[in-house]
Amino acid sequence: MDPAGQAAAAFRAAHGREPEGVWSAPGRVNLIGEHTDYNDGLVLPFTLPHRVAVAATRRSDDVLTFGTVDWAQHLTTAADQRIDDLRPKTIDNWSAYPAGVAWALRARGIEVPGADLVMASTVPTGAGLSSSAAVECATAVALLGLAGTTLPLPEIARIAQQAENDFVGMPCGILDQTASLCCTAGHVLFLDVRSGEAVQVPFDAAASGLEVLVIDTRVSHSLAESEYADRRRGCEQAAKTLGVTSLRDVSVEELGQAEAQLPAELAPLVRHVVTENDRVRRTVDHLRAGELRQIGPLLDASHESLRDDYRVSCAELDLAVTAARRAGALGARMTGGGFGGSAIALVDADAREDIAAAILAAFQKQGLRAPRIFPAIPSAGAGRDR
Ligand code: GLA
Repeated sequence: MDPAGQAAAAFRAAHGREPEGVWSAPGRVNLIGEHTDYNDGLVLPFTLPHRVAVAATRRSDDVLTFGTVDWAQHLTTAADQRIDDLRPKTIDNWSAYPAGVAWALRARGIEVPGADLVMASTVPTGAGLSSSAAVECATAVALLGLAGTTLPLPEIARIAQQAENDFVGMPCGILDQTASLCCTAGHVLFLDVRSGEAVQVPFDAAASGLEVLVIDTRVSHSLAESEYADRRRGCEQAAKTLGVTSLRDVSVEELGQAEAQLPAELAPLVRHVVTENDRVRRTVDHLRAGELRQIGPLLDASHESLRDDYRVSCAELDLAVTAARRAGALGARMTGGGFGGSAIALVDADAREDIAAAILAAFQKQGLRAPRIFPAIPSAGAGRDR
C-alpha cells in the first residue's frame, strides 16, 4: 500500500472515522551541491518516490495528537500536546518534528487548529534521504490544509526549517525542506539559496540510457550532528576572517588569495564550498546541453572534496563510492550531510545489476552490513493526496 493509503487506514483504525484529508511529502537526494546551502550557495536536489503521508482531521480543542504506523500497520502514539503549550527543545521523540511545525506556523501567525495526525512513511530513516524534512513538510501542508489557508512554497520551507532549527534544535540549512516542497517529477531543482531563485532543470536519465542509484549504507554515525554544527561554525568563522557576508561571496578566481588569509584548518572548508558551487554550475550546464554522461567526473570531484577537504565522509560512504566506480559507474558521491547515510552513483541502466552486485560484494568482503540499493527517480514534491 502507498503511504497515503496506509496513513488513511491507520487513521480509520485509530479514530473510527475517515480523515478529513491526506497530504504527503517526499524524501530527496542531492545530485550535487553539498554543504553549500548554509553558505548562501547553490544546490541541485531531486525528490524520491519515497514519501511521508499525514492523514489528518481537525479537532474542536487546541490539542494535537500524533500517531505513526510501521509497514505492518502497527500504530505508535506520542504524548498529546496543547498547541499553546508547545515550547522549543522540550520534546525528545519523533513528534518534535510535527509539533515543531505547528509551533513555527503559529509563530508565523497561522491559526493552526487542534488536530489528530497519523503518519506513514516509505522514506528510509537515518539514511540521509531527508525523512525529517519529509515529516516536517507533510505536516506543514496538512496543517495549512486543515486551517483552510496556504502560503508560497519557499515560505513553507522556511517554516519547516525553523521547526527543525529552533524547536528540534538541529541547525540544518534550507536544502531538504525546499527540495521536499518545490521539486517536480522529471527535474532537478537548481536552487540559489542567496537569491531564493529556484529553476526546474529537466533530468531524464532514462532517456540517455542512464540511472541514478541510491546506495544506503545503513550506517549513521553519532558524530553527524556535532560535526555538522562544527563545519557550519567553521564556514562562518572563515567568512568573518575574509570580511564577507558568506562564502558565496568568494569566487573560484579569488580562492587562492582567500586561502592564503585563512588558518590551516579553515582553508580546506572554503576550498570545498567555493569549488562545489562551481561544480553545481557546471553540472547544470551539462544537463541543459543534454550531456548527462559528462556530469560523472563532477560527482567524483564532489566526493573527493567532501572526503578530503570538508571531511564529512566515512569509511562506508567511501567504500560505496569506490566500489561503484570500480564496477563502471560514470560518477559517484556521498549525498546529504555525511557521516553515514547514502551515496549516489550515475550508472548505465544496463550495467545496474552488475554494479549493485559489485557494491554488495565489496561490503560483504569487509564484513559490513549489506547496503540497500535502489534507483532514484525524480518524483513530485509535497501536496494533497486525497
Ligand atoms: C543536511 C542538511 C541540509 C544540507 C545538507 C548538506 O541534509 O539538512 O541543510 O546542509 O546536510 O548539503
